[in-house]
Amino acid sequence: MSAIKVPFGNLKRHYEVHKAEIDKAVFDVLESGWYLMGDELKSFEKEFAAYCGAAYGVGVASGTDAIEIALRACGIGHSDEVLTVSNTCVPTVAGILAVGARVRFVDIDPATYNMDPVALENRVGPESKAIVVVQLYGQCADMDPVLAVAKKYGLKVIEDCAQGAGAEYRGKKAGTFGDAAAFSFYPSKNLGAFGDAGMVITNDPVVFEKARMIRNYGQQARYEHVIRGVNSRMDEIQAAILRVKLPYLDNWNERRREIAGCYISALSGMDVVLPVEVDERRHVYHLFVILVKDRKSFMDKMSGFGVQTAIHYSTPVHRQPAYAKYRDQGEHLRITEGQAHQLVSLPIYPELTGSEVAHVAACAASALKV
Ligand SMILES: Cc1ncc(COP(=O)(O)O)c(C=O)c1O
Repeated sequence: MSAIKVPFGNLKRHYEVHKAEIDKAVFDVLESGWYLMGDELKSFEKEFAAYCGAAYGVGVASGTDAIEIALRACGIGHSDEVLTVSNTCVPTVAGILAVGARVRFVDIDPATYNMDPVALENRVGPESKAIVVVQLYGQCADMDPVLAVAKKYGLKVIEDCAQGAGAEYRGKKAGTFGDAAAFSFYPSKNLGAFGDAGMVITNDPVVFEKARMIRNYGQQARYEHVIRGVNSRMDEIQAAILRVKLPYLDNWNERRREIAGCYISALSGMDVVLPVEVDERRHVYHLFVILVKDRKSFMDKMSGFGVQTAIHYSTPVHRQPAYAKYRDQGEHLRITEGQAHQLVSLPIYPELTGSEVAHVAACAASALKV
């Protein structure tokens, strides 16, 4: 193998490609003298909501806050039960617990790693009030049956789109299926800020007004606090940077899909489970996740070839020490638990060069051979 080194992510390279525009946007905010709740935020809220096809956007401080605020704005709170998956980033669950709700975990579809709608219906209980459906790795869950279950049992639907900016299901963008959706603009996301940021989007004017108040101490007008809120504002610098970056998102996602296509054609037929795209879903490959039988050996070989890999996520949330009280729910999570020890993510980001992509593909093919 050649001596090319491929890190799992490369945010410095990303910055360098767009440096002039980003520097100008930051400088303009600094010069403006207005750093919070200004025109950049208002414009980005409108532009991002319009990009997704939603009526309203509320910029907040992180994706975790977006989940909490979306739930609260939808009326979910103390002792309500919320259905979600366990093969997710911990903040999905942290956001749910932050409103005082309880979590009931649902197993996943083995092919897409997303919530299984049949398992969902089986897990709905008398106290279930909402579903947080995670659009994991950049691919939407099977939303039609998920929405049918929600309708049948009167449940709110909040999409966790932290990994799904630009993903589609049957021609509609992620974030427009339920009562509200939460996005993260963590730097390595498909649309990333240069710090923390997130957004709630919705088509419901009541949810919008509530989310807007909650993120700014519950204020309706200055110093008029009609509900209890928090401080979770997206600052002007992050909003200005995200405005520069949003017009590139579709091209970046296309490049991610191209890279995924190269990996898939290099590895098909080998002893590995590759990502699949089903039911008119447009996968935007926030992560390129495969299942390998001997993960340690595969990752060691990749590392020896100079290619960094990662795991998303090695321990399902209900098996994390902080969430031990949910451990018993493992009996309903056979697929989640069975896949956890085989998951491996290969590097995927728009700035990878053609030779780096070819190198990762060749290394993975070689590491999979016995
Ligand atoms: C699925 C998922 N949900 C929620 C979050 C939380 O987002 P943030 O880190 O912006 O709080 C993340 C990302 O980190 C995520 O991947």
